[in-house]
Amino acid sequence: MDKLIIEGGHALDGEVYIGGAKNSAVAILPASILAGSTCTIKNLPNIKDVYNIRNILVQLGAEVKEDGDRLLINSSKVDTYRVDFELSKKLRASYYFIGALLGRFRKAEVPFPGGCDIGVRPIDQHIKGFEALGAKITIEHGIIRAEADELRGSSIFLDVVSVGATINIMLAACMAKGTTVIENAAKEPYIVDTANFLNALGANIKGAGTDEIKIKGVDFLGGCEHCIIPDQMEAGTYMIAAAASKGDVLVKNIIPTHLDSISAKMKEMGIKVVENGDSLRVIANGRPKAVNIKTMPYPGFPTDLQQPMSVLMSIAEGTAIVTESIYDGRFKHVDELKRMGAKINVEGRIAVIEGIKKLSGAPVCATDLRAGAAMVIAGLIAEGETVISDLKHIDRGYEDLEEKLLGLGAKMKRIP
Ligand code: EPZ
Repeated sequence: MDKLIIEGGHALDGEVYIGGAKNSAVAILPASILAGSTCTIKNLPNIKDVYNIRNILVQLGAEVKEDGDRLLINSSKVDTYRVDFELSKKLRASYYFIGALLGRFRKAEVPFPGGCDIGVRPIDQHIKGFEALGAKITIEHGIIRAEADELRGSSIFLDVVSVGATINIMLAACMAKGTTVIENAAKEPYIVDTANFLNALGANIKGAGTDEIKIKGVDFLGGCEHCIIPDQMEAGTYMIAAAASKGDVLVKNIIPTHLDSISAKMKEMGIKVVENGDSLRVIANGRPKAVNIKTMPYPGFPTDLQQPMSVLMSIAEGTAIVTESIYDGRFKHVDELKRMGAKINVEGRIAVIEGIKKLSGAPVCATDLRAGAAMVIAGLIAEGETVISDLKHIDRGYEDLEEKLLGLGAKMKRIP
């Protein structure tokens, strides 16, 4: 089991280049099942989740080959609608194969997905959408079976704003007969990115990025060339690391509007954030002021940056109230931060963080992907040495994390 040893106290300084968005990539790759000919996808992040999704495509019979920094996928030879159990449980996004296989074959058999342990993660809204389109869903022996004689467009009002359900219903509705309307849809950039990919294949999707998405079913989807958008969560993580380490970092290859909620919060803390086209510079000046954070669906403050932001709040001036309104179990990083001296009290979905001057290095573990990122930031700013174990979570979602941080002046090394 690899460990990361971090020597704290070095301000991050320099430039970091952001990779493709994980949560776009893990939706667009399964969506290629719907394509009748070759899809060329660029700017995929080099992370385990993408690797695992590629393996599922190959298991289904798709032809997947690399051409430099592009991935060519030809799904015309996919000859099964059954996803392998071992592969499916490696990540949450394997559930996108339900919508894609149902949309293509009118049948899908996908084992329950895996993913971060950040609380209860039902898929009832996905199922509600598939049933509204005319599919029959049965769940037995841990496998979700979907089948439909025909998929017909329908109106679906989501009970909760769900990124996964919004995308999954889009996938199943693309070639349904008639028009599907998704109301109370999620508006994350990944949804727009996936809709753009599907429209490039020949789909007819309007309104992605708003809370009402209209999908007019088409008979056939071809191939396309698509570039994945930059990862706003990776970018936000480096912004927070720059601020926490009292550094000066230029975060490059981003779409600044996707980070508006983080930039606004940073300015509230007294941190300098300078936007410039496709990059953004974070210049810390002294100790940040404590601010309150409430995670919300996009464009609100993202739940995926709540844990890294809690580290910044743990050394801020004053007391911060952090409300995690999306998940009921996304505070597993708190116990690890307490080992480093943080003063945090959790009551249900609220964490009260009393800022202290300095964290102290300690052996900690990464309990999930974004908690892992939080612990890396804590190690960068703590007094002394921090050893982080359970790195597998971090490797799932952060591309070349050590290289990028070493390039910014961090002192760390990975040991087996
Ligand atoms: C996506 O998960 C992301 N994962 C998550 O990122 C992200 O935290 C989340 O969206 C919210 O932004 C991927 O895109 C692969 P949801 P998803 O459906 O789609 C409830 C990361 O760190 N809900 O938007 O699974 C659910 O319990 C990961 O990159 C239902 O009740 O999230 C949650 O409380 C972690 N029923 C809320 O909605 C459903 O059918 C939002 O979940 C679906 C969801």
